[in-house]
Amino acid sequence: MNLNRQAVQRAFREYVSAYDAKDPKIALKIAHTCRVASLCETIAREDVPQADPDLSWLMGMLHDIGRFEQVRIYHTFIDSASVDHAMFGADLLFQEGLLEQLVPDAQQVLTEKERRILEISIRNHNRYRIEESLTEDEQAYCHILRDADKIDIFRVNCDTPLQEIYNASTEELLNAGVSEDVKECFLRRTAVERSIRRTVIDHLVGHICLTFELVYPASTRIAREQGYVDRLLSFQSANPETREWFDRMKELIWKTEDET
Ligand SMILES: [Fe+2]
Repeated sequence: MNLNRQAVQRAFREYVSAYDAKDPKIALKIAHTCRVASLCETIAREDVPQADPDLSWLMGMLHDIGRFEQVRIYHTFIDSASVDHAMFGADLLFQEGLLEQLVPDAQQVLTEKERRILEISIRNHNRYRIEESLTEDEQAYCHILRDADKIDIFRVNCDTPLQEIYNASTEELLNAGVSEDVKECFLRRTAVERSIRRTVIDHLVGHICLTFELVYPASTRIAREQGYVDRLLSFQSANPETREWFDRMKELIWKTEDET
């Protein structure tokens, strides 16, 4: 594919200039978008030979475009209290003409198949599991984007105070325990569904468990090298049982499945 990345970056900057960049929520999403785009490209180049690096990068640039209107209209990133930002963004892009605004000459640059890949990967990026019945190619792009997004979530969760992320008081954070069901998920090396999270630290463990959902070896390598998962694991609880549990997780997190 023959993509003019500078033109896309220019169009993206122009699009987001209509939002208040001093609002930390907006600034966070701008930085997140650029990082995810570059991570998508790295993962594609390293582990997915059939994926186009330009298309992978573009997918990252567009994946959270719904966040800007979401925060302008609803003042929140909580989908359950507003809109599903992935569906919302894809509707703006593929039904309201935003794609043509952000990708100059989209008609010439993107084939039907590439357009479909963009749409499917964006619509699927925040789901617990991707939809069934996707082609092998579509699945590969979905996994690239989901991996890249998760890797950057680790960074965001380290750079933002936990009180803010989880909407909890310091006291609550320090004293909370971890539910048995959530521990079970960690030991099974799987993601933690929202419905079984009971305490604020369950959410933190849930974020740590995203490590197990990474599909490509490059993603795990990058996540490990960046050190943000280890920082999340260094959380100092005042609750002795939680402390013990975090020590256990530290021991197990980077082991391969056969080693555990
Ligand atoms: Fe997103």
